[in-house]
Order: sequence, then structure tokens, then C-alpha cells
Amino acid sequence: MTPAQNADKLIFFVNGRKIIEKNADPETMLLTYLRKKLRLTGTKYGCGGGGCGACTVMISRYDHLTHKIQHFSATACLLPICMLHGMAVTTVEGVGSTKTRIHPVQERIAKAHGSQCGFCTPGMVMSMYALLRNNPEPSIEELLDTLSGNLCRCTGYRPILDGYKTFCKVSCCQTKDGKCCLSAEDDATLSSDATEEAICTDLFHPAEFMPLDSTQEIIFPPELMLMAQQQQETKRVFKGTAITWISPANLEELLELKTEYPKAPLVVGNTNVGPDMKFKGVFHPVIISPTRVVELHAVTYTENGITIGAACSLEHVKNILQKATEELPEDQTKIFMALLEQIRRLGGQQIRNVASLGGSIASGYPNSDVNPVLVAGGCTVNLATKAGARQIPLDGDFFLGFCKTALKPEEVIISINIPYSSMWEFILAFRQAQRQENAFPIVNAAMSVVFKEKSNVIHSCRIVYGSVGVTTLSATRTCQELAGRSFDEEMLKAACTLVLDEISLPATAPGGMVEFRRTLIISFLFKFYLQILHKLQEMGLSSSVIPEEYSSAVEDLPRNMPKTLQMFQEVAAGQLSQDLVGRPIMHQSALIHATGEAVYCDDIPSLDGELALAMVTSTRMYAKIISIDKTEAVQMPGVHAVITADDVPGNNTRFLFDDEKLFAENEVTCVGQIVCAVAAETIAQAKAAARSVKITYEDLTPAILTIEDAVQQKSFLSPMSKLEKGNVDEAFKTADHIFQGQMHVGGQEHFYMETHSMSVIPKGENNEMDVFVSAQHPTLAQESVASALGVPANKIMCHVKRIGGAFGGKVTKASALASIAAVAAYKTGRAIRCVLERGDDMLITGARHPTLGKYRIGFMNDGRIIAADVTFFVNGGCSLDESDLVQKKMLLNMDNAYNIPNLRCSGFTCKTNLPSNTAFRGFGAPQGIAVTECWINDVAESSGLPPEMIREMNMYKGMTVTHYKQEFDSTQLLRCWNECLLKSSYHNQKIAIAEFNKQNRWKKRGIAIIPLKYGVGFDVGFLNQAAALVHIYKDGSVLVTHGGTEMGQGLHTKMMQIASRELRIPMSYIHISDTSTKSVPNTAPSAASFGTDSNGMAVREACQILLQRLDPIINDNPKGSWEDWVHEAYMNKISLSTTGFFRGEDAFVDWNKQEGNPYSYFSFGTACSVVEIDCLTGNHVNLRTDIVMDAGISLNPATDIGQIEGAFTQGLGHYTLEEMKFSPEGVLYTRGPAQYKIPATCDVPQEFNVYLLSGSKNPKAIYSSKGLGEPAVILGSSVFYAIKDAVAEARKVNNLTGPFIFNSPATPERIRMACEDQLTDQIIRDEPGTYIPWAISV
Ligand SMILES: Cc1cc2nc3c(=O)[nH]c(=O)nc-3n(C[C@H](O)[C@H](O)[C@H](O)COP(=O)(O)OP(=O)(O)OC[C@H]3O[C@@H](n4cnc5c(N)ncnc54)[C@H](O)[C@@H]3O)c2cc1C
Ligand code: FES
Ligand code: FES
Repeated sequence: MTPAQNADKLIFFVNGRKIIEKNADPETMLLTYLRKKLRLTGTKYGCGGGGCGACTVMISRYDHLTHKIQHFSATACLLPICMLHGMAVTTVEGVGSTKTRIHPVQERIAKAHGSQCGFCTPGMVMSMYALLRNNPEPSIEELLDTLSGNLCRCTGYRPILDGYKTFCKVSCCQTKDGKCCLSAEDDATLSSDATEEAICTDLFHPAEFMPLDSTQEIIFPPELMLMAQQQQETKRVFKGTAITWISPANLEELLELKTEYPKAPLVVGNTNVGPDMKFKGVFHPVIISPTRVVELHAVTYTENGITIGAACSLEHVKNILQKATEELPEDQTKIFMALLEQIRRLGGQQIRNVASLGGSIASGYPNSDVNPVLVAGGCTVNLATKAGARQIPLDGDFFLGFCKTALKPEEVIISINIPYSSMWEFILAFRQAQRQENAFPIVNAAMSVVFKEKSNVIHSCRIVYGSVGVTTLSATRTCQELAGRSFDEEMLKAACTLVLDEISLPATAPGGMVEFRRTLIISFLFKFYLQILHKLQEMGLSSSVIPEEYSSAVEDLPRNMPKTLQMFQEVAAGQLSQDLVGRPIMHQSALIHATGEAVYCDDIPSLDGELALAMVTSTRMYAKIISIDKTEAVQMPGVHAVITADDVPGNNTRFLFDDEKLFAENEVTCVGQIVCAVAAETIAQAKAAARSVKITYEDLTPAILTIEDAVQQKSFLSPMSKLEKGNVDEAFKTADHIFQGQMHVGGQEHFYMETHSMSVIPKGENNEMDVFVSAQHPTLAQESVASALGVPANKIMCHVKRIGGAFGGKVTKASALASIAAVAAYKTGRAIRCVLERGDDMLITGARHPTLGKYRIGFMNDGRIIAADVTFFVNGGCSLDESDLVQKKMLLNMDNAYNIPNLRCSGFTCKTNLPSNTAFRGFGAPQGIAVTECWINDVAESSGLPPEMIREMNMYKGMTVTHYKQEFDSTQLLRCWNECLLKSSYHNQKIAIAEFNKQNRWKKRGIAIIPLKYGVGFDVGFLNQAAALVHIYKDGSVLVTHGGTEMGQGLHTKMMQIASRELRIPMSYIHISDTSTKSVPNTAPSAASFGTDSNGMAVREACQILLQRLDPIINDNPKGSWEDWVHEAYMNKISLSTTGFFRGEDAFVDWNKQEGNPYSYFSFGTACSVVEIDCLTGNHVNLRTDIVMDAGISLNPATDIGQIEGAFTQGLGHYTLEEMKFSPEGVLYTRGPAQYKIPATCDVPQEFNVYLLSGSKNPKAIYSSKGLGEPAVILGSSVFYAIKDAVAEARKVNNLTGPFIFNSPATPERIRMACEDQLTDQIIRDEPGTYIPWAISV
């Protein structure tokens, strides 16, 4: 049989509108269809692989058997449209709109300040909406589960959770005293010297929220109910250009099809097949969709257990098992419990809603969470082919190899039998991942044991691991050996030895972390032992003694809804109500973020004839280009041009960066370097052609990847920098103690939710081009494009409406990409759109600099540090970019809060064959300060004095001077420190932690308090300038334009607040449309925490000029309205438009003299964090963080607290989670959310309090405010040092005391391996240098 000659029509609904697709292409995913075909651009592209949640939509379907409508969230990027026949899709546009009515789910995230750049917001809205459609009053647990699959890079999640918990049953502001039951206590924490200022804790008012009214929702289309009943009997076929999709109506047809197309995959959730086709180039000409086959959804309760249809989603399986555990005796449900344990933490909710149990088994992936439990639980599968059925056990004979199972090609899994457990049987499951939720396991395991009746003698057992080999692995030999033994310590020892012998991981194992994974193998076994022994003891069947302090070893780390508090100063009592400066005003675009109406670069409708651009990048780290063969590529369908260096009409050397080319010429110096680009009619065509460009290389030597190799080879990008104060060498001679140490701080990927995006439009005359780009530095993009095209800058108009997150990553890199797109536009004469895929964005655009700090410290017996000599080596990658500036800022900020009388710091910028690293929030300070806090900690460890004492003793006090001779007043630094000590109840917490640590052997808590001083402004003086252009139109409306870009930080909102105050009109009169080099030329980048300071001053000046012009008119008619005055001014020929300009400080550093005044002023803060670690797995949980920050007089406490929390969370990611991994060949492995883990909701501290220091003034910035965009990143290091504190406690148990090397980030691997104990002693260690590891540390 061949597929039907005539393809069927695909019918589904989107937001209540019927869609009939006559030519449904199985390759089209819903995300593309929505964005490109239906022009519903509210649903965003963030990763394309189901890992970020930006594309979340709600799917509704009618089950004609149960007559029920089901609603569930799903990721549109993995949903083939063909799967949607008969279903209804709701996107963010269908939920509510500012044109009609916004929905409470949109209102609450916006008003609770849960939206900054807004790129993740529609996805958040849709996840929450789907939850509310199923349960209008969800539990806190359900809320946390729901949002676990949605990433946000800006907010730190706290405001999103705060906004959405108002929907929950146990919600805030429902207690009679009006206090939120989930808010932290604030009574004892009022500012010690805030008696005169009114303090406020309400950033929003839940009482003003619209109630949720479920009668207002879009109804499920009745037509689809009819369709569901009528169309069950027919097979459906959709034929695309390359793929045919067949959906059988019943089992018979399915088995028939599988016989005919044995190689065709059965696509259920597409969470495995989809990513394979997208990212690994797997191609299937025929796809079978078995989702309508009733038998695959059946759930039956048998005498021996539950049989679950293979197509049941994991979420459905979870609900079935949950119900069973509630209804059945505990003894029977132990396997269910173990499975639940794993499913709960598998993927995000959107994935669990579609991914099927059968799909997980059939995929045979080694990292499956469910498969080890199914094996350990003795489950079986029911299989069928046209020839008949069979039932086979899921065991070592089923999982045969990498993605290889015992399934015959024509065989279908019909269902899975999950047995009831017996009284004498126990089963537990374990997993450890890089992040607690929504992360594939690093290692997982399931272990079961059956005892001989009424004894502790093992009758049989199963020990099964995932992620330690090519597939799910059973330790069969070990289990055979253990049968018949008593379950006691001897047995444990033997089991560890046996299992390590049987499940051996070679040093070169894919995935790396080999010693950690080996340790986890036995750590899980140890946990299993403890937990089962405890059960046996409860049953009176074991006399083995478990020490009391071991009991928490088996408990999970706590997971709670964060209790939060945000405290800030009220505006002065007399401030006019219309004057919004100082008030927590919502982000001006928050509502349109939440409705999906906000337009980002890729949401701009495409132009007629527009082409898409795909990059061809180097696959070698250092090589000569022998040839570029584009013959095949140019002949491919839709391709207009393959653009190389030869096509650049102007300068192929990057503007401002002489050592880098736009397109590689002659040689490549890193993997990921752009060699050429393909312009084609669709992005799919461009990518296909890009893959067929053949580049021949000849490898060159030496290729350098690591800092150590660069230092050895003297490979540097710039000369060494140095700052020195006092007489360091002499001081060392007088020190009581001297020690040396080092710390490596890893790089960090920006992971803005919106990848680099641009649209370049040739205007058809005079070489003019419009460049719409997601860039922090429009002027640089303008100049770069002009340079590449060889035209003056006045021909290039660069526009930035809004950016979906940037964090420093869209300053220089966006300009290079825009230049490449402009060359393509020039060559083809067409508009060019370039939106990098997440993987390409991560590969090409560089990251935060990995840094090695080496130090020698001299200190006195009382803890005073009298000499420090610190050398930093930053890994700059293959070209200079901003690396030298980053390294210098590291030196300028490395003193942090400490006044070290004799201090020498030097910086080297290493040239390696990695992608060129670039600016990232904090610009080198986060790495430099982390190293400083490391040696401060080491002094504490060496001297035995408390770390807070060392910190306070060595801190700057009063009027003082930095190591580069800039004077400053450090009063607010000490105030932040003291307030934080007080508000965090530091000393009480320390006592409680010591007590906890005494009582717990395998769980340890740690605490750290870290002060911060951070220089604001550009240390390169000319950048401290800004301009604004303000027009008042005849109707009184005001258009403000300034040089800063809106990337989520709320800059436009603050500018509107300023304009509103200066012009004395409500904010509703003021509009900011975009940032454009056409309106405001020669802008500085929006960076250095200086955007508000500089642009705010410029806006203020422009408004003041205009008001001065209006003053005589106002004086003549004081009772007139704004509109009257504006009209009168116009009639009197008074100009209603002007510019404002800000000439900032002449900041400078004279690096020869080693002195300067690089900063306008300093921002101060302190954070105290408490964590708990699991010493056996390396897991950790952030228990509490208190931040006191000096925001001067905050312009907008909501925005400022948002920046503090967001930056802190990004810092927390940098120091504890985010790890970039490179192969020894220089290939970046971590190219998406599946491999690279930014913080998720589970990482928000479970108690999170932010206090803005009251009574602080800053004469250097507008209205006495302070720049806050970057500094709090560094406060994330308080979590790192709290973890280090906990690790130190764990080490003490084994008599390991004193300083120890603990590099950043504090991943589970680092935590576990630093907690040395009898288990880490047992594993085999591989001699470095004797093997090539999977990944290297750069
Ligand atoms: C973002 C993301 C995060 C994830 N996180 C985790 C995680 O933390 N832990 C984890 O374990 N997994 C995780 N997964 C993997 C996920 O669990 C599996 O991809 C999923 O279970 C596969 O089910 P599916 O229905 O989507 O399979 P599909 O992709 O539809 O199909 C997969 C394979 O199974 C075969 N198949 C499906 N059904 C049958 C059947 N009835 N009979 C025979 N063959 C069949 C198909 O032929 C195909 O080869 C994640 C996936 C994604 C995308
Ligand atoms: S874009 Fe779909 S989950 Fe990231
Ligand atoms: S607001 Fe969430 S990613 Fe920017």
C-alpha cells in the first residue's frame, strides 16, 4: 500500500478560528505555522527544542470516549501541525488583548512586575492559563509544577510567582490582617535607622486584580466534538514535500502500516523524534501517528497491577499512579511511588503533557528517567505485530544498546504492565541533575529488593542505572551475588565494590564528569541502603544501628513556594500624586508583553521578497581554509546567494576590532567562526544549503583552548595591565602568615531569551539601508554596517524597538551580525532577516570570560590583610572584542569592599582558539570579586576566625580611596553590611546552622554574607554622554526619544517617569516608540549600569527647555490645561521640539601611572545566603537570601528591585549552575537549554528578601538615584560561598580542614567531589594526561 494519493485536509482551530490546511506539511511545527502563516507572533521562539517554554500554547481536545474536553499546555516548537487535526489551539492572543479585554492571567503577571524584557511572558501566561482552565484555584504545588518548564532570564522568577500565587487556594492577601501568608516576616527587620522614612512593602496591590471568571473563556468548538465522533473510522494522510504523515484510525491499521513501513517512527509526543530530526539531521520519509488508536490509551486495573496504554502521556501516567497511591494499600504501590518520584522531575510540564510512556521506552535513551524504574520494578510490555502479540519483560535483554531495544521494527508497544509491589518488596528511585527541575539526569537509578519473608535476608534484588552507559544498565551480576545475604553493612560494602566493578565508566565516557558519576553510582546505593534499613528496623527485622545524624540522608531537599519580602522607601509625604518618580510603576510595556502584542525584531511582518539568512560556521578550531565549495549550495531550491568575504563591498575587518573579520578569510581561529552565509527564500532552504557548503581545511598548530596553555605559549591579546598600591613586597615581609591559592571561575552564556535577531532592508536608492536589530548599541551597529558596505553612516538608519534580553551580549556581536546581514542585503538587493537559532547563537557569539585568579596573601594573626598580590588570566577567545576592557574592569573592581593597604593586581588577556568572548553584565567584576572573596575566605579558614569578622575588619570605612586613588565615601557600604547582618539575623542563623550540621551527617548547611562595592559608569570617559529628543505634538501628546535601548531593564519606563515629572503631565501623555540613530545620533551603548543616569539627564534637560518655553504661556493662563498651553505655544510659533544632552564625567584611568577616576560613583550592597547541600549527591537548595542594596533614592522601586533580583539570580546561575562545556577539539557542547542550565523557578531562594537602603542620596545621578543594572550579579556569589561553607562542614567530618580549592560554578559535581568521604575514596581515579577526556576546562 502507498499513502493515499490525495492528501487529507487538516482541520483545527486557533483561538476560536477554524483553520483548513489543504497542504499540511508534516515538517511544519505549530510555532512556525502560528508565527509565519497566521502571523500570530505572540508565541515566541526561544530554543526550538522544548526546553525553554517560550512557545507554550494550550491544546484542547475532545475525547469522544469519555466525552470530556482536555486542556493541556504544550511547546509549539515540537508540535507538528499534522498532530493537531480536530484539536483547538489557544495562543496568548486568544487569551486576551489590550484591544478588547486583558485576561487576569495577563494582568497579574504584568502588574506584579513579572515581566521585564517580556520575551518569556507569553509562555508564562500560557502555562498558567492552561493550569487555570483545568483548575481555577490551583495548589501551590501545581503552580510550581506548571512553571517549572518556563525559563525567564530577566526577573529571577520571584515576581512571577508572587503574581500567580494570587490565583492559588492558599494565596496571599487573604488573611484577615491583609498580610500575605507567604510573605516573610517584616516586623523585626525594619531598617535600623529608617525611623524617619516611611517604609513600604507593597510593589503591587492584589486587591485591584480582576477576578478570574471562567465563563469568559473561549469555548471548545462544538464542530470539533462532532468531528471527533464522526471521523474516528477513517485513516488520515498528510503529504508534504518530503514527508508523509499517516494517522491510522485503529490498531489493525496501525499494525498494517508498521508492517509496510517498519522504519517509520510512531510519533506520539514528538519529544524524541522531533529534536532528532531538528538537531541531528535524522530524516523519516514516513511518519505514523498512532494517537487515535484506542488500545494505546487504555488503562486497566488487573489483579497484578495496572496496565497503561503506551501512548498515555507521562502527565497522565503521573495522575493515574498518584490516584492509585491514594486509593490502594501502601504495600502495593511502592513501584508506583518510585515511578512518580522520577516523572515529577522529568522535563517541564509541557513536555510531560505530551511525551508518552511508550515513547520513552521505545527510544531506549540511556538517560531515561522512567526506564530504570520499569526495569527494577519488574514491569513488562505488551507488544503486537500483524502476526500476533507477545509480552516481554523490561530487563537487560530489552535495552540492548544506544537507542536500541529488543523491539522488532514492525512491532508496536501496546501497553506497559506495572505490577503491584508485595509486602516484602521495596523499591526506590534516585536522580541527580545539573538543576533540580527540568533537567536530564546526570545519573539516575532505581533499586529494588525482595526479602525472604519476615527476615532481612535478600531473596532477590535489582539495581538499575541510567546515564552511566549506552543504555539503561542493570547490575545483574552484583544482584546475583547479593541474593541470600543479610541486608547489613557488610552487604553494603560488598555491593559497592561489586557494582563499581560491574558498572564501569571509562575515563573518556561521553558526558564527562566521570568520577562524579562513579561516585553517584555508590552514593545512590548508600542512600538505598539507609532507607531500606530504616524500613527493616521499623518492621523489627534489623538490629543494625543507623546513627541518628544519618536519618536526613534519605530525605529530599525541601521544595517550597518562596516566602518573599521587598522593602523600599515611600515617596515623600508631600509628593504630588501625579508625580510618579519614586513609585513602583509597572513596566510601560508589561501589558503588551503579556498579551503578545509587543513587537520584537522577528515579529516585524516580513516584506515582499524578503530572504532568510543562515550562517556557515567553522568546524575547526585553528585551520587554513583551502577551499570553499558552494557549487551545490547555490543550486539548491530557493537559494539566492552564498555570501563570502569576497562579497563585502566595504571593509571585511570588523569595525573597531582590527583583529577580526566579518567572514573568515584564509584561516579560521575557532569552531563557530562565520565563514559564509546563505540567503534563501525560507530559513529551511537557507539552512539546508548552508549544510551543503563544503569547506576544506588544513589544520594549523598550535591550537590553544585553555588558559594554562595560553600562558605557557605566551598567547595574549593585549599587554598585561597592572594596578599597585603601597609596598606589597615589603608588606609580605612583615606579615604573620602568607599563603597562596587559586580559583577558576567558569564562563557564562548570556542566554537572553530572544536570540540575535535583525532585519536589514535596502531602501533602493543611494545605498540607504534600514537596520532593525536587537542591539544594545545602535550606533555601533550603524557604524559597522556602514563600514562593511563602504558607505557613510548617514545612509544607515538603525532602529531598536525592544530587545528580548541582552545582558551585554548584544553590544558588539549584534553589530557584526548586522553587518553580515547588510552585506547579504547588498548582494541580493533584498530585505534580509537573520534570526539565529539558539544553538548557533550560543556557538557563535561568545560568553562571559572564564577566569583564573592566582593569589598570594599576607595577613596578621588578628585577621588584618596587609598584603595581596593577585594575578588574573581571562580567556578572551580568538579575538580581542572587549576582552582587554573586561580584564581591566576586573582589576578596577577586584578590591570589592576591602581596603588592603598593600595591593598588587595584574591582568592577562589570553588568546585562545575559542569563540571570542565579550561583555556580560558586570564586565569582569563578577569573576574578579569572586576570586577576592575566595582569598578573604581562605584567610578566615587559615586563621580560624569567622569570615564575617575578616570581611568587616578589612572593609573600607568612611571617606577613603581605592587602589587606583579614586576617593569615595564608603558610609553606605557599611550601612548595607550592618543592615544585612541585622535583617538576615545572621548571627542567629549561624548558630542554628551549626546545630543543624551537628545533627546531620549527610546534609549540611552553610551561610555567607558578601559585601559589594561596584563602580557605575564607563571608565572610558567619552562614553559618558547621552542625548534625547522630545517632541510635543499639537494635541499635547509627547514623544520622547533617547539614546538608550529598552531590553527589559525598564529604561523607557523611567524616562517616561522623568519626562512626566519635568513636564508636570501624566505619564499617559508620553510615548516612547523606539531608539533610532535617525532621531538620536552618536549614542553610547546601554551598558555599565549607566543608561538611566545618562539618558535620564538628557531627557530631563530637553523637558526643562520645553517647559521654559511654555512658562510664559502658563503664567499668562495658569488655570489653562496642558493642551491649551501647547496649542497657544504652537499658535505663537514657539518650537515644541528640542534635544537634551548630558555630558557626563571625564572618567579615566592612566594605566601607566596606575591611577584614575574611572567611575561616576559607587553602588553598594550586601547579600546573605543560606543553603543546604546533599553531601551524597552534590544537590543543593537555596534556603534563604537577604539583600540590602543602596539604590540611592530609587526612581522606581519595582524596576530597581526587579533588576536586583534578576541580576542576583543571574549571578546565582553563574556561580552555581551554568557550565559551558567544550570538547578537546574546541567544540561547544552546551548549545541549548537541554545542556546548559540557567536558573529556573526551583532556584529562587525559599525565603527571599530584598531591602532598598533608606535615606541614601547620590548627588551624582538623576534625582539622587543609583545605577543598579549590574552589581547584584556579584551578590549571587553569596550562594556560592554559602555552598562552600557547607562543603567545608562536610569535609570537617573527615578531618579535612583549612582552605581548599573550590572552583566556580558550584555544580553538583564540584560539591559532591569536594565532600570527600568513604564513598569518594572507593572510586577509581584516572591519572590526568593518560586519556583524552570528553570535556576540558577552559
Ligand atoms: C525538553 C525535554 C526535556 C526532557 N526531559 C527529560 C527528563 O528529564 N527525563 C527523561 O527521562 N526524559 C526527558 N525527556 C525525554 C522524553 O521523556 C522522551 O522524549 C519521551 O518520553 C518520548 O515520548 P514521545 O511520545 O514524545 O516519543 P516520540 O518522539 O513521539 O517517539 C519516540 C520514539 O518512540 C517510538 N514509539 C513511540 N511510541 C511507540 C509505541 N507505542 N510502540 C513502539 N514504538 C513507539 C517512536 O517510533 C520513536 O522512535 C525530555 C524531552 C524533552 C524534549
Ligand atoms: S522555543 Fe519551544 S520550548 Fe523553547
Ligand atoms: S522577562 Fe523573562 S526573559 Fe525577559
